[in-house]
Amino acid sequence: MSKIFVSNWKMQLNYSASLKLANDFKKKFKNFSGLAVLCPDFLSLAAVAQIIKTTPLKLGAQDCSLRDQGAYTGEVSARNLKALGANYVIIGHSERRQYFFETEAIINQKLRDAQVDKLIPILCVGESLAERKVGLTKAVLKNQLRLALKNIKPGLIIAYEPIWAIGSGRVAKSEEVELIHAFIKQEARQILKKAVKVIYGGSVTAADFASFKKTKNIDGFLVGGASLKATEFHKICQL
Ligand code: 13P
Repeated sequence: MSKIFVSNWKMQLNYSASLKLANDFKKKFKNFSGLAVLCPDFLSLAAVAQIIKTTPLKLGAQDCSLRDQGAYTGEVSARNLKALGANYVIIGHSERRQYFFETEAIINQKLRDAQVDKLIPILCVGESLAERKVGLTKAVLKNQLRLALKNIKPGLIIAYEPIWAIGSGRVAKSEEVELIHAFIKQEARQILKKAVKVIYGGSVTAADFASFKKTKNIDGFLVGGASLKATEFHKICQL
């Protein structure tokens, strides 16, 4: 089964650096046969869409509004993202939950809106270090899934992003990720009545290649820092 590779540029690059990176990706991925999705910031999305238009690369956004259209200052709708050429949208990233106060109710509404506008949502879930230390990982994930997926249709991707692994250089052990992904798949299947793909995010680099190669329940990767170099991300995409 082919894996899904998502490159999350976060707010790491200015406009011209984003365009340069998109051009590097264009060269590196021209013969790529898998599924790789680039998620630049809103500012560079339209230009990146043009640059990668003739490549096998897909476009995603890092977030979307929970509203579709109207007087909502500062918002970007799923509908407009779709019209621009995006097919995917990251929703509920821990950085949005932590710094922008996104609740499960907001995340649920964003998922609905993305699905109405035919974007494939990539729903992020994951526990904090404090929660992990007291053995709450599964309870936290179960709760996040139950609330976020209420009345959501199948056809989304879930990203397991343990907060303690993001940007920390600490990758979760592949055996542990396998078990958690199996748990997420089981919980999501119960809610959605359909199988769902689960990808892993949190300090993944090409050096993790060997440990993740033989895994069964890891359907791909959501990569931050290591995806800001086309060569490094291309290596990860060979997994
Ligand atoms: P890093 O790969 O930089 O740890 O970021 C992971 C992430 O948050 C991807 O969405």
